[in-house]
Amino acid sequence: MSDEYVLDTPVVRAFIAGVRETIAAAASPAEACDAIRPRFAELLADDDWLPARYQEGDPDSGMGGGIGQWLLFRAGDRSLTLFALVVPPGSQTPIHDHLAWGLVGLYRGTQDEEIYARDDAGTLTRTEARGLQPGDFYALLPPRDDIHRVRTTSPETSVSLHLLTNDTGCVWRHAFDEATGEETPFRSGYVNVECPPA
Ligand SMILES: [Fe+2]
Repeated sequence: MSDEYVLDTPVVRAFIAGVRETIAAAASPAEACDAIRPRFAELLADDDWLPARYQEGDPDSGMGGGIGQWLLFRAGDRSLTLFALVVPPGSQTPIHDHLAWGLVGLYRGTQDEEIYARDDAGTLTRTEARGLQPGDFYALLPPRDDIHRVRTTSPETSVSLHLLTNDTGCVWRHAFDEATGEETPFRSGYVNVECPPA
């Protein structure tokens, strides 16, 4: 399969090219995330590159709550994706994992994020809760901090950018019940791209 630039613009192509060079030169995922930070911060600060259609929710969402997950770029070997996650006001994601390392940052609106740890018995413990403002971002380096939930706190829709090293919308990952820790396999899908049949 070849690379898919769903949003095919010079900004996206330059960003992805830079990210790939950085990953190739990095000794570890943590080092790669650190080295990508300036480039990711620049993308979050640029108001002009993301068309309005990729900042809209999806009534038929695989995550519920009208949440839209828009694919912007996907590597041919599925080892890298860039997507926008759009969460309407008052909506929240299920508690979920990602199963890949990368960077996540807020582009528009505000969010509360809750991070969970899960022990061997499957019990979930909330380890951190924080408010996010546009421009804030963080690294996901599973298994640490891979399980979280985000809720939009702004009157307008929130938009976060995800640069992750899998095909996050199409892989089978997990949603978790907060009270019991029970995991349910789920595939979030993308608003604008089909996933292969399950
Ligand atoms: Fe997430």
